[in-house]
Amino acid sequence: MAEILDGRKIASAMREDIRRETERLAGRGVRPGLAVILVGEDPASVSYVTAKEKALEEAGMFSLDRRLPESAAEEELIRLVEECNADPRVDGILVQLPLPKHINEERVLLSIHPSKDADGFHPFNLGKLMLGQDSFYPCTPYGIIKLLAAAGVGTRGRHVVIVGRSPTVGKPLANLLLGKGEGGDATVTVCHSATDGLARHTRQADILIAAAGKAGLITADMVKPGALVIDVGVNRIPDASKKKGFRLRGDTDFEGLQSVASKITPVPGGVGPMTITMLLYNTLKAAKARGRQSGQ
Ligand code: GUN
Repeated sequence: MAEILDGRKIASAMREDIRRETERLAGRGVRPGLAVILVGEDPASVSYVTAKEKALEEAGMFSLDRRLPESAAEEELIRLVEECNADPRVDGILVQLPLPKHINEERVLLSIHPSKDADGFHPFNLGKLMLGQDSFYPCTPYGIIKLLAAAGVGTRGRHVVIVGRSPTVGKPLANLLLGKGEGGDATVTVCHSATDGLARHTRQADILIAAAGKAGLITADMVKPGALVIDVGVNRIPDASKKKGFRLRGDTDFEGLQSVASKITPVPGGVGPMTITMLLYNTLKAAKARGRQSGQ
């Protein structure tokens, strides 16, 4: 049976450290703050934003909740981001994605000041990540790196196969794993929807990361015995027996993989809690920079 990598437990230990540092900083007059901007009422986005705000409160951080209607104009959203750029209480800004179709995501992400980019989605920060320089790293990939480290899993010289090339997970994760030093030094293969013979690639993985957004994509026959599997998928499957009318399923056949993987993350309770933890971490990091600037 595969060992379950408990993301909740690892995240909770990290959040306690973050909470303590937050209190210390707040004691010197710098309370870390995050502006959380949500456009529209997409149910999954509302649930993510609620979870993020709860985590901010538990960490002792200031959260500025800003909601705009689905019909909001791009200019209105960018004006709001610019207000947050100028707001001294706000160390980090998060614009929940996806945005309504009539809004250009690229322009909105560009309007966030790179020093307040708690999500790490600004091209400036993604460029620095690619170059191996310190920046704000996107929360899900960074959370995966921290999860592996906390579980005592080294990446140096390991073959990591990532399934999924999104700008929020696959691409930044590949770059983090390629970086020099701790958490990096891996040999990385990135597969995607146009990959020929997906299983041929995934079977080579010492560490397999499923981030394609396709429920149950990775089955037991696609995994090398003893491989470690990280499941990034958060797919909503209709389920009338559940109060919410759906259940969450990852990108892997979790049950089927039990007999072949050495370790595996569950969905929910694996990568998800780490993502929110890294958002707190990035907010704290931005607040520390503010503290240094103001000589606190
Ligand atoms: N939508 C899904 N995941 C994320 C995330 O990590 N950040 C933001 N801003 N939007 C998301």
